[in-house]
Formats: sequence, structure tokens, C-alpha cells
Amino acid sequence: MIKNKVFHLQTENTSYIIRVLESGQIENLYYGKKIREMDDYSPLYEKVSCETPNSIMYDRKLYPNLTLDNMCLEYSSIGKGDLRESLVELSLEDGSTTVDFKVTGFKEYEGREKIKGLPSAHSYNEDVKTLEISLYDEIIDVTMTLYYHVFYNANVITRHVKLKNGTISSLKVNRLMSMQLDIPKCNHTLVTFDGAWAREMERHDKKLCHGIFVNDSKCGTSSNRHNPFVIIRDNECTEEAGECYGVNLVYSGNHAEIIEVNQYDKIRILNGINPYLFQFNLGMDEELETPEAVLSYSKEGLNGLSHNMHKFVNENIVPENFRYKERPVLINNWEATYFNFNESKLMGLANKAADLGIELFVLDDGWFGNRNDDKSSLGDWFVNTKKLKGGLEGICKKVNALGMDFGLWFEPEMISEDSELYRKHPDWAVTSPGRTPSTGRNQLILDLTRQEVRDYLVDSISKILDSADIKYIKWDMNRNFSDMYSRNLGANGQGEFFHRYVLGLYDIYERLTSAYPNILFEGCSSGGNRFDLGILCYMPQIWTSDDTDANERVTIQTGASYGYPQSTMGAHVSVCPNHQSLRVTGIDTRFNVASFGVLGYELNLSEISSFDRNAIKEQVKFYKENRSVLQFGDFYRIKNIYDTNNPSWMAVSKDKTEAVLGFYQRLQKPNPSGDIIRTIGLSDDLRYNVKARREKINIKVFGDLINQLSPVRIKKDGILHEVISKVYTMDSENEEYTVYGDLLNEAGFKATQQFACSGYNDQVRLLGDFGSRLYKITSVNVTK
Ligand code: GLA
Repeated sequence: MIKNKVFHLQTENTSYIIRVLESGQIENLYYGKKIREMDDYSPLYEKVSCETPNSIMYDRKLYPNLTLDNMCLEYSSIGKGDLRESLVELSLEDGSTTVDFKVTGFKEYEGREKIKGLPSAHSYNEDVKTLEISLYDEIIDVTMTLYYHVFYNANVITRHVKLKNGTISSLKVNRLMSMQLDIPKCNHTLVTFDGAWAREMERHDKKLCHGIFVNDSKCGTSSNRHNPFVIIRDNECTEEAGECYGVNLVYSGNHAEIIEVNQYDKIRILNGINPYLFQFNLGMDEELETPEAVLSYSKEGLNGLSHNMHKFVNENIVPENFRYKERPVLINNWEATYFNFNESKLMGLANKAADLGIELFVLDDGWFGNRNDDKSSLGDWFVNTKKLKGGLEGICKKVNALGMDFGLWFEPEMISEDSELYRKHPDWAVTSPGRTPSTGRNQLILDLTRQEVRDYLVDSISKILDSADIKYIKWDMNRNFSDMYSRNLGANGQGEFFHRYVLGLYDIYERLTSAYPNILFEGCSSGGNRFDLGILCYMPQIWTSDDTDANERVTIQTGASYGYPQSTMGAHVSVCPNHQSLRVTGIDTRFNVASFGVLGYELNLSEISSFDRNAIKEQVKFYKENRSVLQFGDFYRIKNIYDTNNPSWMAVSKDKTEAVLGFYQRLQKPNPSGDIIRTIGLSDDLRYNVKARREKINIKVFGDLINQLSPVRIKKDGILHEVISKVYTMDSENEEYTVYGDLLNEAGFKATQQFACSGYNDQVRLLGDFGSRLYKITSVNVTK
């Protein structure tokens, strides 16, 4: 609704209200829980009744008392009294920096237009409306357009900015953020998701106080250091209740989220391309568009915010062909073979995988050029026929004959110095003049700002894709940037390098995904070094972390779940001791964690025990039966994992007739107090059957306690112990209830007693360190 220069944007549960000031700037009046449309919004105006001491008066004659420094503004610039962090910073030809944009008009329409050269949220489901506000600075002849896209069902508003030079022969843009949101609130906490290789997405909460906090990446990718998704929450907000704002960015390069609390306790949030090393030149009539910022608000706590974000990603971010499309269970050969494989070894793995019900075979690194370790061949995208005698076509056909699809790993953005490509085009690598380039994982980065480099990649990858029936691609990117410089950009253009690299990357994605719309792409960057909405616009899933340790994955996937749905998180069951942590966890715990993502297996199936093989067969069956709710159900974090030994997750189908609950234990306590397991999100009025998923117990977990029962002495780990453990397994507890949802939601069920050193029967819950259990919850009112 637009009335008296007030714009009231509404989603299903939120309102976003702004107004054009007499002076031409835009004030943010309110962003929060939905309120009705009305005639008079003046209670929300910032009142300026007298001059504020020690402040800059914007225009004493025309607008007495107006100071921009104490206004909630939709954008800000430099030089007119707003002394906070700004959305835009320009350098003009004459060296001046003062900029003052004023509203000149607006447009409102159904749907949206795409952002040129960048991915943007899709409007498949026709619930998108756009508001465009035009602004102009007549002194410098530069136009700025603010875009607002309202995604009604997801409770998301996205924003971005376009800047257009008029007649300045060389305008330098030193900063152009995607959005600015000022909220007049104190007592708020900033939540960020930080990490490193193998421990991505750790949640950190920081109480906001006066000053500036920057969450950013300078890696060239969106990074595992600081994910672009941040939350600003009320200090009292919990998983289940309270108000919070989520902010994300549809971008895969250097980003920055700048959060400032000023002298009037107002919080300013800016996000967009990181101003670090950024300077973009605009000639006459040229324009620059920012990536799209994503905003959401919830009064239903952090779970409510996650539901908005999940819906938005599932409906408006991932490519149309993969919207709510169930993802296959895969086997990946990386941790099974690393570089040491040939066709017969791979087919051995594929055969075992097919027997277990696995649907997609993924051939990882090492199939191309002369690549036998990580020191060579990146860039040489042709098959190594020494390893794969029948080429890709040969192995692909054999895998297909087993009833499985075939997928392939690439790392296209890289070049090894020891490669044919490098010997031919050394100048295609990113290096800084006169310096020996620093490396990461022994490799250099290709200069994607160059058209001929992009054409080479699209061409060579297309040839591979046309050579066999490839249904899946894992697109890896294994190093951060150094020696930033492009021979393509000249002395004045190096400030454009990082952004132009990302634009180049998106150009390649756009060309490949539109030519091969049915190939499932999985993003990867040493695990989660580029887990962001830009990637998800082309690749519906991302390898969340190289760390497959189940206990660590609980933390990583919990962190990721705040902003990203289960359907986006690649999650594999691997061997133990785990290759990243050497930790040992049970085969079912590894599954119980991975099943809340896109399930895969990544271990040598030829060398596992029959116990594990049987377990995996059951797991794959269970996953397929419950895949829809596990990948696309509403996801809840039940307890805050930071103050409990028992983090728990739940996924509930949209119609609330089915759910799966995952209960995880960090460490075993002897004689522990009872666990009360409470659900969230079931219908109070439906009757549900809750049933613990039965697992098998290897009797070896009891160690020499087995002698308490055995008539003959059994030596721990001796031959007899081994034989008995192979032929005799026990079932986990038999626990089941049929009750109404309100009991489960409000009171929860008291789970059967954990092992307490005094025997075992089918009512004892044996979890141990890193133990876990899945509970299947089904409405009994519905016959399936
Ligand atoms: C990266 C990925 C791994 C694997 C290797 C292959 O580390 O994250 O999953 O593909 O590369 O070299």
C-alpha cells in the first residue's frame, strides 16, 4: 500500500513500513510483526522538534532541526550529517565525496526482474511483488534505484541497489552495499556462524553494544570463517519464542555485514559486497547492480525465523527443476579410495552400493589428466584412460547397468602448475606482477574475469558432459585467494577483481546449468567454504563440511540449519575411526545425524563388517521411506545445543501427519537422570504413534561384561568374542506410545532408562558416548 508517501509492504506475518521525508530521504518507520494498513502512520515518525546539539543540521532553512544522524534511514551516504557507516561511498572526478540522493519517483508491480549478471531469487510461485524507488543526486548527475521484492509466503523481503552514472566521465564507487536497515532497538544480540575447515557454522552470540561489528569474508569466497547469514535477535529470544531478524546475501564472494549501534541506541545493519579492496569504475551511462540482500523477521523465535529462510530457499532460491525434488542417496569414492583407484576398484564399490539400495555413484577427484595426488592436472579436463580403461562412458554404462546414476567431481576454477593447461596458458592463472605466487593445496586460481578462460571451461566441461550420461556434478573449489591481480583489468581496474571473478563464475554457472538443466549440481569448497545463497541458486545442495564425524556434524548441521534447509546440506556416513577426528561413533549414530541432510555414504563398502553392511541396508530403506519429511519437512531445533548434552532435531511434514525426531547424546554419564523428550510442531489435536527406530547392538560394546551372562569364560577381543559378535546381535530398546500431540508438545515422553550397569533388556536404552536414536512419529488418524 502507498499513501501520503508512506509505503507499507506486507508479507503473511510481517510489515515493513517506510516513508519519503520532505527532504527527499527515506525513513524506515517499522519492520516487525504484521500490523494493519491505516491512514495515519505519524506515531512512527522520528520527532524532530528542536535542534540536536553537536549534530549536523541537514538544511537549517528548509527543514529546521532535521539531523540525519538520528533517523532510521533506508540508505545513507557521506557528507550530509549521517556519521554512521554508509550504504554508498563515491569518489568524484574533482575529488569530492559528498553525495545526497533524493527520491524522484517509484514504481510498483507484480513479479520481479532478474539482476543483471548475478543470481536472484526466483518468482516461480507468483507471490512476488516489487517496489522500485528512484533517487537522484542532481549535483553529480547520478541515479540510484532501491529495489524491494516482497515474497509473501516466505515472509521474506529482498533488497538490492542499482547505481547509474549520468555524465561523469569516471565515477569511482568505493562502496555500494545491498541494503541498509536501521532499527530503533537496544537489548539485541548478534548471532554469527563462524568456523574454519572441518568445523564450519559454529554459532556465536554477541550482545550488541555501542560501536561497530563487522562479519565478513576476504577469502574471495563467502568463506567458512564467517557465513554471510547473520541474525539480530532480542536478548530474550529463544528457539521457540521472541523476535529476531535474519539477514543473508545472494552472493558467493567477499561479503560484509556491518552492524553499528550509534549514540541514540539505534542499530544499523548493512550487508553486501565487502568494501575491502573494492573500487568499481563507472563510465558515462554505466551502471552497477548489487547482489540481493535477504531479510526476514519472526516473532516465533529462531525456529520461526529458520522456517521463513528454509521456505524461501526451497521455493525461491534453488533451481526450478529441483524445487522440492527428492535428492538421491549417493556413494562417493573419495574417503574410500582417495586418488588410488582404477575401474575395477570403483566397480567393486559400485556393486556393493547397488546391493544396499544406493542410487547414485559419484566419482570424486583423480579421474582426469595425470592426477594421482593433489599436485597436478587441475585444468586438464580429459579422462585418464590408464585408470579408466573404457573412459567415462565405459564406467558410466556399467554403473547404470547396476541401476544407479553416475556423477562426477570437477574443480574447474583451478589450475595446477604441473598441467598441460598451465604450460599452454601460464598467464591464465591469478598472479601478481613480479611475485612468485603463493599457493593453496599446491594450486593456483584461474582468472575467471577473462572471457577466453570462461569459454575454455564451459567448452571442456560440456565435452565431458556430452561424453557420458552424467546426472550429477560435484563442483569443488579448494583454495582462498592470494596475489589478486588480473591482466584483464588494467592498472585502474584492480578494485573490480574480486567482484568480476564472481560475475565470471556466475556466467559459467548460468551457461552450464541452462544447457544441462537436469544435472544435479552439488557445490563444495573444501567442504563449506562457499555455503551461500548465490551457489544455491544454481546448485540445490552443498557439501556442508569435509568433517564427517557425527558428533561434530551435529554442531555443524545445527549451525547451518539456522539459515539453510536440510535439503541443501550434503551429509555422509563415513568410516571410523573418522578421518578428520579419529573419533569412533556407531554406524547408526553416523546415519542418525546424516539423515537430517541429503544422505550419502563415503567409505570403502568392501571392507566393512557384515554388521555395518546390514545396518546400512536398513538405513537406506528407512531414509527412502522418510526422505520427503527428512529433506523438506519443517525443521526444529529442540534444545539449545550449547547448554545440553542432548541436542535434538525434528522434521515435521507440512500437514503434520509425519515427523522424525533425532535425539543425540554427547557423552555418557553413569546412572544418568532420565531423559524427557519433548516434541515441537506436532498438531495438538492429532493422535500420534511414536516409535523408537530399532537398531542392532553389537555385543562387543559390553566388553568383558559379557561374562556376567556367559556360562563359559570369553576373553575380550579374543576369537570366541569375535565369532559370537558376528552371529549374535541384540536389538535396541522397544519403545512406543500412541498419544495426542498436546501431550508430546507440552509434556514430552519420559524415555526408557539408559543403561545403568545392572543388566540389559528391551526396555533399556543403550546409547553410550555419541549415541543417538531416531523416533518415527506418525499420525494414526491417517491411514497410509
Ligand atoms: C575437497 C573436497 C572433498 C574432496 C577433495 C578431493 O577437499 O571437500 O570432498 O572432493 O577435495 O580432492
